[in-house]
Amino acid sequence: MEPTAQRDRWLAAIGAAADDAALAAVEARLFGSKGEVLELVRSVTALPKEQRPAFGKAANSVKLEVEQALAQRRGALAQRALARELAADAFDPTEPGPRAARGSLHPITIVQNELVDLFTSMGFRWEDGPEVESEYFNFDALNIPRDHPARESQDTFWLGETSGQARCLLRTHTSPVQVRTMQRLTKQGFHPPLKVIVPGRCFRSETVDKSHEHTFYQMEGLVVDRATSTSGIGIAHLIHTMKTCLRVILERDVQVRLRPGFFPFVEPGFELDVNCPFCKGQGCPVCKQSGWIEILPCGMVHPNVLQKGGIDPEEHTGFAFGMGLQRVVMLRYGIDDIRQFMGGDLRFLRQFPEVVR
Ligand code: DAH
Repeated sequence: MEPTAQRDRWLAAIGAAADDAALAAVEARLFGSKGEVLELVRSVTALPKEQRPAFGKAANSVKLEVEQALAQRRGALAQRALARELAADAFDPTEPGPRAARGSLHPITIVQNELVDLFTSMGFRWEDGPEVESEYFNFDALNIPRDHPARESQDTFWLGETSGQARCLLRTHTSPVQVRTMQRLTKQGFHPPLKVIVPGRCFRSETVDKSHEHTFYQMEGLVVDRATSTSGIGIAHLIHTMKTCLRVILERDVQVRLRPGFFPFVEPGFELDVNCPFCKGQGCPVCKQSGWIEILPCGMVHPNVLQKGGIDPEEHTGFAFGMGLQRVVMLRYGIDDIRQFMGGDLRFLRQFPEVVR
């Protein structure tokens, strides 16, 4: 048989294959175990010797041509399939992508940032201290002796005791940073005036309820300056600073009052109350009908504490305060359950959409 006789038929079959499956069937027919193309090439052996070279050459060239046609057709079908796919879900590279979800600040962080901005604008330094604290800084240096009941009132999470070393605990308040800071700054040669704030996390072994958490945030403040016969840090400075701070945070003018309060590291010590921002002092459930909300323990720094910090109490006076940040945030946003802050409920957190600065 003349090798080129079937060539046109095969090429036509390849050209007519409409998809991959049809093309595969044609390929099996031509190149399978009894494939027509292979049979043609093999048929050379049946010919007389003198005809073989010419026939073999022609047969091989037909085989090559058919193979090329198959490859070409496969390529064309793939192209067509791709074009069809692209047309089906038309992809527009100029369209903006889906929006990535953006995190937002926790309400405690929002208020803490505002307070830090406010106090640093008034010349305060932002200080930090360890959450794992020594018994010395948390209690002893703050004029709270070992057998003092004030120690019991702060339900402390004690950490393992190592003989020969100071006992460690999770700090129960930010006040330990008062003496730490005074010691460090005086060692570095700084002299009063000294104005610091210390926002930070504190821990107490509390039974958790609507108004108590085992983990909470405070912001400590400490102001110390040299006292002369005519000037020095006094209670008026304390009241002015606290009023300014509450006015900014609660976004309204506030009235405050001082009541005596006992804290071993201040003398005199106070509880500072703010006129209830919800009922303007008329009496409501938030202020338990009293018209006042207890918000800020504070006082004049005890001479023993100044001394522990390396500052001569004969020549210096100061005030300190320890603000419960959750308390302030609850007042600002009208939140009535402290457990919301650590509860991890996104529906609560999404109500404070301020994004990271
Ligand atoms: N550290 C005290 C507490 O957490 C609060 C406090 C009271 C801090 C009076 C002060 C202060 O700086 O002067 O209970």
